[in-house]
Amino acid sequence: MLLFHTLAVVLTGALAVSGGKTKPTPKPIPLKWGVLAFPRYVGLDAYGPLELLNIVAFNTPNMTLSIVAETMDPVPAHITNSAGPLTWVKPNYTIDQDPELDVLLIPGGPGSRVAYNNTRIIDYVKRTYPKLKYIASVCTGAQVLAKAGILNGKRATTNKFAWAEMVASGPGVNWVPCARWVVDGNIWTSSGVAAGIDMAHAFTKTVYKNETLADRAANILEVEIHKDPHWDPFCKVGLSAIVYRR
Ligand SMILES: *[C@@H]1O[C@H](CO)[C@@H](O)[C@H](O)[C@H]1NC(C)=O
Ligand SMILES: *[C@@H]1O[C@H](CO)[C@@H](O)[C@H](O)[C@H]1NC(C)=O
Ligand SMILES: *[C@@H]1O[C@H](CO)[C@@H](O)[C@H](O)[C@H]1NC(C)=O
Ligand SMILES: *[C@@H]1O[C@H](CO)[C@@H](O)[C@H](O)[C@H]1NC(C)=O
Repeated sequence: MLLFHTLAVVLTGALAVSGGKTKPTPKPIPLKWGVLAFPRYVGLDAYGPLELLNIVAFNTPNMTLSIVAETMDPVPAHITNSAGPLTWVKPNYTIDQDPELDVLLIPGGPGSRVAYNNTRIIDYVKRTYPKLKYIASVCTGAQVLAKAGILNGKRATTNKFAWAEMVASGPGVNWVPCARWVVDGNIWTSSGVAAGIDMAHAFTKTVYKNETLADRAANILEVEIHKDPHWDPFCKVGLSAIVYRR
């Protein structure tokens, strides 16, 4: 583990020579976050991580959050009443603008099933991934990554209550059934909905290397963070449950 870590630092950090000593320069941290929005995404998938990252951004110079969607029109989230959607998010970039981002986060929900078959969205994810430092998904957002070919041969997780459907939608993926979140290279995937908050905390802790800040954000949100990626009571419940679909 330590060896791998040291190797990773040597491989990824540019070597700077100063005063006869060789010191690795820290990799620049990812500052530009984009959240991909599509109709009927689950609000908490996006807003959970965003609320935590918003606090991180207050404490991180030049860190920005933005919403990327097919058009600039407000995008309806999943929650509806009989008259239709109740909440919308206003994008500030379209996918055609190919905004310069460091991290793209993809939420799930009924909307990810539609995004899965939307060639414009899948093409966007495909072409933007090589330019990113990291890509992340929450819940069934993983199926969008899978469709874009990003998860081929990679370890990933998703919502346990949609397990069979997700596994079928990503046949080349090494799906991990019991995990709060999974990291494989620069790909972060989390389990259902609220798990995205734990993933955002872990991301802040390990990528921004600031657990104090991650904890501070969680304290402000008054959420008890699960810090162990193997903590997953929902895999037992979910994998044997009736598939939730609405
Ligand atoms: C933030 O961005 C400005 C403008 O690009 C730059 O001058 C400044 O050094 C940046 N600050 C940090 C801490 O990266
Ligand atoms: C979208 O938000 C980002 C991050 O705050 C900002 O830099 C950018 O200018 C915004 N773009 C538009 C078109 O509003
Ligand atoms: C997406 O496409 C597949 C294959 O054509 C199809 O089986 C599935 O029903 C489609 N999903 C949606 C939500 O339209
Ligand atoms: C971590 O975050 C805390 C809280 O914002 C801040 O005071 C501290 O300077 C940060 N540490 C580093 C190494 O950036």
